[in-house]
Amino acid sequence: MTSRSPRNHQTIRSANVPETTAFGDRILVVDFGSQYTQLIARRVREQGVYCEIHPFDIGDDAIRAFAPKGAILSGGPETVTEGWTPRIPDAVFDLGVPVLGICYGMQAMASQLGGVVAGSMHREFGHASVRLAREGLLAGLGDTLDVWMSHGDRVTELPPGFVGTAESGNAPIAAMADPIRHLYGVQFHPEVTHTARGEEIIRRFVRDIAGCRGDWTAANIAQRAVAAARERVGDGRVILGLSGGVDSSVVAALLSRAIGDQLTCVFVDNGLLRKDEVAEVQAALGPSNALPIDLVTVDASAEFLATLAGVADPEAKRKAIGETFIRVFERAAAAIPGVGWLAQGTIYPDVIESAASRFGKAHVIKSHHNVGGLPERMHLRLIEPLRDLFKDEVRAVGLELGLPERLVHRHPFPGPGLAVRVLGEIRPEYLDVLREADAIYIDELRQAGWYDRVAQAFAVFLPVKSVGVVGDARRYAHVIALRAVVTTDFMTAGWAELPHDLIARVSNRIVNELSDVSRVVYDVTSKPPGTIEWE
Ligand code: XMP
Repeated sequence: MTSRSPRNHQTIRSANVPETTAFGDRILVVDFGSQYTQLIARRVREQGVYCEIHPFDIGDDAIRAFAPKGAILSGGPETVTEGWTPRIPDAVFDLGVPVLGICYGMQAMASQLGGVVAGSMHREFGHASVRLAREGLLAGLGDTLDVWMSHGDRVTELPPGFVGTAESGNAPIAAMADPIRHLYGVQFHPEVTHTARGEEIIRRFVRDIAGCRGDWTAANIAQRAVAAARERVGDGRVILGLSGGVDSSVVAALLSRAIGDQLTCVFVDNGLLRKDEVAEVQAALGPSNALPIDLVTVDASAEFLATLAGVADPEAKRKAIGETFIRVFERAAAAIPGVGWLAQGTIYPDVIESAASRFGKAHVIKSHHNVGGLPERMHLRLIEPLRDLFKDEVRAVGLELGLPERLVHRHPFPGPGLAVRVLGEIRPEYLDVLREADAIYIDELRQAGWYDRVAQAFAVFLPVKSVGVVGDARRYAHVIALRAVVTTDFMTAGWAELPHDLIARVSNRIVNELSDVSRVVYDVTSKPPGTIEWE
């Protein structure tokens, strides 16, 4: 991305180097602050090649130590026509490995290697068609390619040794290559799905040109993570807060494989869980399962509900739940002798996002990190075995480790649970109604084959009353809202266009089976402007 924004590099600090050691053949993704940098990394990993994102100022020594077989330079919001803007570290070129520059990355490459980049009056944004020359990276993709462009600047003179390999109406040099040194630049974004055959371009670069083997597979990822955790923890004892969600469940499975009974999982029943959730978690991860997990379930529902009594504000509810969780969890931990480690299900996007937020980019809409600060308070060392994995990889590892498909593909569920789905003050009777309504909704979605077609679906309890008629009787009862969204990143989302007959079935069942509900509505709000949860 190129735009004339003020200086605001959104970069990932190298302090976030994963706790596991780099894996096999690897690619370095140099981040210049593009909104698509994460996508580049995901596309590379999808080709079975390990990669890490590091900021452009990572430092030459760190690059040499990482020893990548190739480097991809991301886009970014700056312009290389200004002297103070980010540059490609020398070590990237000194390594002599193939380099692919995307958008800003291509412009930086051109300008640093002796070409010329100029600002353009025309900003090119969106779909474009480029004509291709027959060259290594883009060969065999046809004469023209539909691509996604997002730039203002463009390369106007090639650096010595380079040839132009694609042109568009707006960018006569839309791609360039130095086939001898294996340096490539593309003005468009192959990492974005709008670019036709972008996957092939990435594959060709990382596999054919950089020569990486495709050994980043679920089995290898799991094996490596298990070995790394075992080595890190030694004979220490680890405690893990299990939520029933995918990430903490995969951590449990992985650590159980790595350190067996040195791991204790604590599952706190906060009284805000879905119907049958306690039993499901125990069935999936408890002692009866093939995984030998030491699971302690703490029923703290009375304590949570007492703390929440009379609290109606969403942020106050989150805060009360976070504090109570810490209290309950600390008490449970104190009962387990000799614990030295706390395990958490942090995943790579969390690492990237929290690094970005340190640069003041992230505006807190809702406070999501309910238990931040726990390891420091408890004087425990932190182990986060999933910290360099994307969600898809976490799921693949979960399946690899034998977790049930149903658990691994479960929709996300917020830490504060049903507390943010009963609007306003929480009452036990409201929670009971919501649990039943939600179970009916999810059951019907599964039966209709729609559960896996939406990213998240749930019911919300609205504490307002509405008049209805059932048989001959008037019913004055509460309202249930149904929400279902489609999204890949949960940052933006659209409401799901569920079939009308499915919504009708759910609505009929809820109103017929639950006497405390007189009306069902379907939420047709996208994010933005709405958030996914109602609170
Ligand atoms: P929103 O409502 O912000 O939700 O659009 C985006 C995603 O985050 C989940 N969410 C939470 N997760 N604690 C969590 O652990 C929270 O307080 C919280 N609030 C929202 C939400 O379910 C969706 O997947």
